[in-house]
Amino acid sequence: MVRIAIPKGRLLEEVSELFLKKNIIPSKLEESRKLIVEKDGFKFLIVKPSDVATYVEQGGADLGVVGLDVLKEDPKDVYELLDLKNIGKCKMVVAGKPEKLEDYKILHFTKVATKYVNIAKRFFEEKDVSINIIKLNGSVEIAPIIGLSDYIVDITQTGNTLKENGLIVMEEIFESYAKIICNKASFKIKKRDIFKILAKFTDM
Ligand code: PRP
Repeated sequence: MVRIAIPKGRLLEEVSELFLKKNIIPSKLEESRKLIVEKDGFKFLIVKPSDVATYVEQGGADLGVVGLDVLKEDPKDVYELLDLKNIGKCKMVVAGKPEKLEDYKILHFTKVATKYVNIAKRFFEEKDVSINIIKLNGSVEIAPIIGLSDYIVDITQTGNTLKENGLIVMEEIFESYAKIICNKASFKIKKRDIFKILAKFTDM
């Protein structure tokens, strides 16, 4: 049986619809308190988005669907088998208050709040800007509003959260989307089953 780690939250609906469309599952996966769902010969593990790659790397799941944002922040020793460019589409950006746009162009030192500490560090290092990182676990948009940070590094999808909090994009860092990743041992042991699944995506 192939075990697939699926991220709960925003991506679950999109992934579930895609798997249904590709005839991998007979009906949609629903968000519920049931965290292990057996469907049509698969075992789905519904986990936190940031834990998908850990399950796959450690062999708790054979395959996983994970955002590029999560993989870039915390790279894992897994095979990246397929890019699902239309799933989980969002952008990693630097954002801040509109009045900080001019400062942004001449930065030498700045305070940045983010969940994505490694991505933010790498990005500003490459620009030769020293940063003081404030690690938050969510609702990071609050930080520049109350003066906890100058900017944030975060993902934006619809742009609504930035807009509703009066923030604007200063710069785009990269475009993110979902990827199918695979445990290295499972790739050998369950090759046939895994290739059968991958074949269903060839028209993407
Ligand atoms: C993410 C992200 C932004 C928001 C962007 O947060 O951190 O806050 O979504 O989406 P939008 O552009 O469509 O408004 P999430 O909803 O995952 O919650 P969090 O704040 O707890 O991280």
